[in-house]
Amino acid sequence: MTNAPVVTPPGADVKKVAQPLDPAIREHLTPTLKKFTLTDRVAIVTGGGRGLGYNMAQGLAEAGIKGVAILDLLKDDGEQAARELSEQTGVDVRFYPVDITNDVAVQRTVQDIVNHYGRLDILINSAGIADSNMPAETYDLSKFKNLININLVGNFAVAQAVAREMIRTKTHGSIINIASMSGSVVNYPQEQNCYNASKAAVIMMTKSLAAEWAKYGIRVNAISPGYMDTALNRVPELDAQKKMWTDRTPQGRLGDVDELNNLAVMLASDASTFMTGSNIIIDGGYTLW
Ligand SMILES: NC(=O)c1ccc[n+]([C@@H]2O[C@H](COP(=O)([O-])OP(=O)(O)OC[C@H]3O[C@@H](n4cnc5c(N)ncnc54)[C@H](O)[C@@H]3O)[C@@H](O)[C@H]2O)c1
Repeated sequence: MTNAPVVTPPGADVKKVAQPLDPAIREHLTPTLKKFTLTDRVAIVTGGGRGLGYNMAQGLAEAGIKGVAILDLLKDDGEQAARELSEQTGVDVRFYPVDITNDVAVQRTVQDIVNHYGRLDILINSAGIADSNMPAETYDLSKFKNLININLVGNFAVAQAVAREMIRTKTHGSIINIASMSGSVVNYPQEQNCYNASKAAVIMMTKSLAAEWAKYGIRVNAISPGYMDTALNRVPELDAQKKMWTDRTPQGRLGDVDELNNLAVMLASDASTFMTGSNIIIDGGYTLW
């Protein structure tokens, strides 16, 4: 382990200001670029109170979406996120304080969202937690169960509630699960078997749901980020390890918080209509070595 300073990309973890898409400009886009826009669509972003979820919500707003519902446990962050994003873009952004492990609350919330917006097209499942530096032989089983309950069961509960609505209304929607490169490789040096297992399960769940729901026109894909510079990784215990992470990343840095946005927009939009069951890794090349 080393105490060398962390390499941080310029602009990391800084809240950027989102800009609205001028509808007049959309009309002048080429057919290829127009497919990336989200006019009239409505999205749910879980874990959108901060971090990658909030940034992807900004990306959806910049692609011209009609409405975004942010679901998060963190009430203050969620309220602030919704307020700021609607002020910045004019998009109808609402915050719903909900724990994704509470399936009854999730179903009620999805219903409220549909009642308010009148439709539901996109889900980004970004809510999740991480447990790091937890050797398997001493891992507390209650912690293990809690993490699986959030990262896997909770995300399934939201996907199920959303898909039921899409099936009922015959909406050809898009579900995007935020997995992790940890679902494909074992991180080093920190021991985090439960997190890795949860994300491998998210990737397989994504593929299974994609196969099951293709008949309804619902697409399900996963994004697997490498190390991103968010609050999840800004815990003192991880500081010494970050230098090792960047040394093992060919691009030599952590990902900036908005570096999933463009792929999220593509997967949410008609720019990816023949993509389903894919797991796309965005990791600065970490999994190459
Ligand atoms: N940051 C990274 O390096 C990285 C890398 C790979 C994957 N990911 C994944 O990306 C996703 C977002 O991570 P982030 O870095 O933005 O983390 P973050 O902690 O900044 O944001 C996660 C959000 O999820 C919310 N959340 C957690 N449990 C919840 C629950 N039960 N119900 C509702 N909301 C809940 C939190 O309140 C928080 O706002 C996570 O699934 C994470 O595993 C992150």
